[in-house]
Amino acid sequence: MTNTSLKPAPSPKSRPVIGMIPEMTKDMLGMFMDLTKNHGGIVQFKLLNKTYMLVTKPEYVKHILQSNHHNYIRGRSVETGRVLLGNGLPLSDGEFWLQQRRIMQPAFHRQKLSSLADTITTIIQKHLTAWERYSQAHQVFDMEDEMTSLTLSIIIKTMFSAKITEAQVKSLGDAFRLASAFMLWKSQQFIQLPLSFPLPKHIAYNKAAKVLDEIVYPLIAEGRKNPQDDLLGMLLNAKDAETGLGMSDAQVRDEIITIFFAGHETSAIALTWAFYLISKHPHVESKLIGEITQVLNMRTPTLEDLPKLIYTTQVINEVLRLYPPAYLFAREAVTDQELDGYLIPAGTLIFITPYVTHHDPTYWNDPETFDPERFTPENTSSRNKDIYYPFGAGPHICIGNNLAMMEMQLTLAMIYQRFKPDLITDSAIGLSPEATLRPKGGMKMKL
Ligand code: HEM
Repeated sequence: MTNTSLKPAPSPKSRPVIGMIPEMTKDMLGMFMDLTKNHGGIVQFKLLNKTYMLVTKPEYVKHILQSNHHNYIRGRSVETGRVLLGNGLPLSDGEFWLQQRRIMQPAFHRQKLSSLADTITTIIQKHLTAWERYSQAHQVFDMEDEMTSLTLSIIIKTMFSAKITEAQVKSLGDAFRLASAFMLWKSQQFIQLPLSFPLPKHIAYNKAAKVLDEIVYPLIAEGRKNPQDDLLGMLLNAKDAETGLGMSDAQVRDEIITIFFAGHETSAIALTWAFYLISKHPHVESKLIGEITQVLNMRTPTLEDLPKLIYTTQVINEVLRLYPPAYLFAREAVTDQELDGYLIPAGTLIFITPYVTHHDPTYWNDPETFDPERFTPENTSSRNKDIYYPFGAGPHICIGNNLAMMEMQLTLAMIYQRFKPDLITDSAIGLSPEATLRPKGGMKMKL
C-alpha cells in the first residue's frame, strides 16, 4: 500500500539509465559524503535505473536499525557476501538469524571474554618478539600485514582453541585479503557471471576459497572428534529446538569463516589506523605512553587493568570514529515505509555508512581532526549517543564488539610499552574502501 501523501526523499540530478555509476565507481565514499552534504541525511539516487537510498542522519539510522528493524532486513543487500560467508550470521535475517545468534552469543559474554585476556596477551607477546628484530635492524614493515596476522592468530585461538601453524595463518590472511577485494569487485559488476566462468578474478577467488575450506573443514572434523569449550564446541553442540538436528558441516563452515573474517580484518584495520593517527599526533602519543606507564609500567596488562586505560580507550574510540572499519552496510525495506514524511518504497536498498555520519560537521565539531578528548566520559555523556555507531546498532549490533575493544586495548598497551611505530612517509595515506576501510597502498612503518 503506497501512501501518496508521503514525499520522495531528496535526490540529485541524474543521468538517464546509468545514473551515478561513474561517481560510484570512481569514489564511492566521496559520492556518499557529497550526497549527504548537498541533500541531507536521507537521499535517493539512481544506478542503472534502480533507485537506492543513503541514510546518514542519526535519528533515521536509529529508525532503521533499532526502532523499526523488523521492517528493514538485510535481504538482497548481502548477496555478494554470500560468495564467501554463505549463510553466516552477518548475512542472515529473521528466525534463522535469531537462532544462530542465540547459539553464538554465549561465546561473547563478558564473563567468557574475561577468561581470554591472558590468551590474547600471550599471542601479542609472541608477535612482539619479532618486533625486537625489526627495531634493532630499523626494518620497514607493513603494519596492516602485522596486525592482520596478529588479529587472525587471536581470533583462531580465542574462539576455536585451534592448533594452526604460522604458515596456515599466513595462508588464511592472504586468502581473506583476496576474498575481501573480490567481494567488492563482484558487487560492482552489473552482469553477475557464475564463479565457474573462467575469468582470471574468478580463478584466483576459487583458489583462495579452496585454501580457506581446506583449513576449516579439518577443524570441524577435529571439533566433532574432540569437543572443546569454545565457539566451535557451541556451534557443534547446538540442536534445533523443533527437529533436534545439529548444524550441518556447511553451516558450521559458514559461521567459522564469518568469525575468522569479521573478527580479524576489522580489528586489524582499526589498529593499523590507530598507529597511523598516533604517529602523526605526538601529543596524543605522549599522553598515551604516559597513561600506559602509569597504569602498567612494564607489567603485562591483565583484565583488571583495562578499565584504568581510560585515555587508551578514548584513542581507540576516536580512531573508530574517523576510520570505522565497517564503513558501509545496508538494509532492504520489506514493505513501503514512512520515515519523517519521506516514502521508502518496498524493496529499496538503503546504504548506511557510519563513516559519513562520523564525518558530518552537523554532529561533530571540526570532524576531520583527530581528538581523543571527544571521548572523555563528560563529552560522551553530554551528546546524542546515536551520532556514533562503529559497531552498528539494534539487534544486529556487532557480536564481537567487546572482544574487539579488549584486543585493541591490550595490543596498544603492550606495543607502546616497548615501541613507537613511525610512518616512513610524511604524506597522508588515502582510503581503499573494500569490504573494510583499508589504507591505500598499505601502511609502511618502522620502530
Ligand atoms: C573494530 C572491530 C569491529 C568493527 C568495527 C565491527 C563492526 C560491525 C558492524 C558495524 C556490524 C553490524 C553490521 C550490520 O548491522 O549489518 C557488525 C556485525 C557483526 N560483527 Fe563485527 N565488528 C568488529 C569486530 C568483530 C569481531 C572481533 C567479531 C567476532 C569475533 C565480529 C563479528 C561480527 C558478527 C558475527 C556480526 C553480525 C551480527 C549479527 O548480525 O547479529 N565483529 N560488526
